[in-house]
Amino acid sequence: MKQHEHNLLENAYKAVEENRQNIEQDPYRLHYHLMPPVGLLNDPNGFIHFRGLYHLFYQWNPFETAHGAKFWGHYTSPDMVNWTHEPIALAPSEWYEKNGCYSGSAVEHEGKMVLFYTGNVKNEHGERETYQCMAISEDGFTFEKKGPVVHLPEGYTAHFRDPKVWKQENKWYMVLGAQDLNEQGKAVLYTSDNLIDWEFLGPIAGADMNGLGSFGYMWECPDLFELDGKEVLLLSPQGLEPEGYLYQNIYQSGYFVGKMEYETPEFSHREFIEIDRGFDFYAPQTTLDTKGRRLLFAWMGITDENEKFQPTIKSGWVHAMTLPRELTLKGDKLYQQPVEELQQLRKEEVFLPNTKISTSNQTLENVNGTSIELEITIIKNDAETFEISFRDAASMVYSKHEKRLSLHRKKFTGDAIESRHCHVEDLHQLQVFLDTSSIEIFVNGGAEVFTARFFPSETNQTILFSAEGNVMFDVKKWKL
Ligand code: FRU
Repeated sequence: MKQHEHNLLENAYKAVEENRQNIEQDPYRLHYHLMPPVGLLNDPNGFIHFRGLYHLFYQWNPFETAHGAKFWGHYTSPDMVNWTHEPIALAPSEWYEKNGCYSGSAVEHEGKMVLFYTGNVKNEHGERETYQCMAISEDGFTFEKKGPVVHLPEGYTAHFRDPKVWKQENKWYMVLGAQDLNEQGKAVLYTSDNLIDWEFLGPIAGADMNGLGSFGYMWECPDLFELDGKEVLLLSPQGLEPEGYLYQNIYQSGYFVGKMEYETPEFSHREFIEIDRGFDFYAPQTTLDTKGRRLLFAWMGITDENEKFQPTIKSGWVHAMTLPRELTLKGDKLYQQPVEELQQLRKEEVFLPNTKISTSNQTLENVNGTSIELEITIIKNDAETFEISFRDAASMVYSKHEKRLSLHRKKFTGDAIESRHCHVEDLHQLQVFLDTSSIEIFVNGGAEVFTARFFPSETNQTILFSAEGNVMFDVKKWKL
């Protein structure tokens, strides 16, 4: 191993060791979500089910709770419940990646794991350069870098990154996030017979295409996959303006459902749908596992002003992954559900059938805690508003008249409350995962999901139910 790479790895492991004690005592350390052992985590990368193990890599800056020259951290699991933190997969040691081994994906080929990622470079004039790189592993744990296999084509700025590779009828394809010279976000496609020589096929979707009009100045982390006979293009566009309940975060994540013509190539699609309705969700990536499930992880965070105010920073770490979720398509809508393996986490079931709520701030026996799952099946809802408050730091409110579900949370600094909303025609089911500093609410079987970090006082375990009118539901609660 070259000296520079060796030093980078040593320093990263040293940062983990030096901060271990401080980080382990942080009450906001999550109990069943993936986190960085130190420093900053962002996008999920290289998600793959390989030789019986789920591998999830992640964008990692081990040296700061800020963005910088990213490494690929690495977790593995037989079941997406019990995870092992593995040795670092990629460190930014070479000229073509010196400012970061940026996001990318993994495929299996001839029994080997092959990674594709973006080598991010700031050159001596301070300008960005981008190289799409390959690395190969015999065992899925140690990687041999092969260097750049795709160079920036004409017609695009150096905002050209995040290769997602897959196989379709004996050909390999790579979709990338890009910005054209008119500063319009695009998803572009390459093809290859051997994973080494790549042919540029052009843009398949983007701002100013398919009747979209202006639709962001950069598209990050595209992922194109088949689901239920249709194609889904998942992506994270930057530069959408807020519109009613929509696009309230600084950057968005969402998808188009459509038809991919590989011959042309062309992706004809319907409208963009935001995939998450909460505050902290970005850069999702999917894989197909050997059970045939389309699985998704996303970064439970986003590069926004809140990032700097997260209280975990003083302990030396920031951000986490969402729970793993299974995707299904109903019509043209993606549903997300927590993978069924997560039921292994359930302990000490509480079941309260036919629970009636008709006043404010009611507690339910044993329905409380800091790391729990709640399943609520609504039997009858005659209430104008129905509210569940979580540990006095976040709350979910359904307004029957407005047909609106809202998530409110305390801002990370000051006392102000911030809110996100979405249209829900009729609320009939909720599955809520609370971890020490996160909340994920799956609505109506996963038709909508709200994902957020929140930072309640450490000892507060209170869950309060309120209704203006009468609500009756079954509730199940587990400790996780
Ligand atoms: C998305 C992103 C990617 C990039 C990576 C760098 O959050 O900006 O486009 O590859 O993060 O960490």
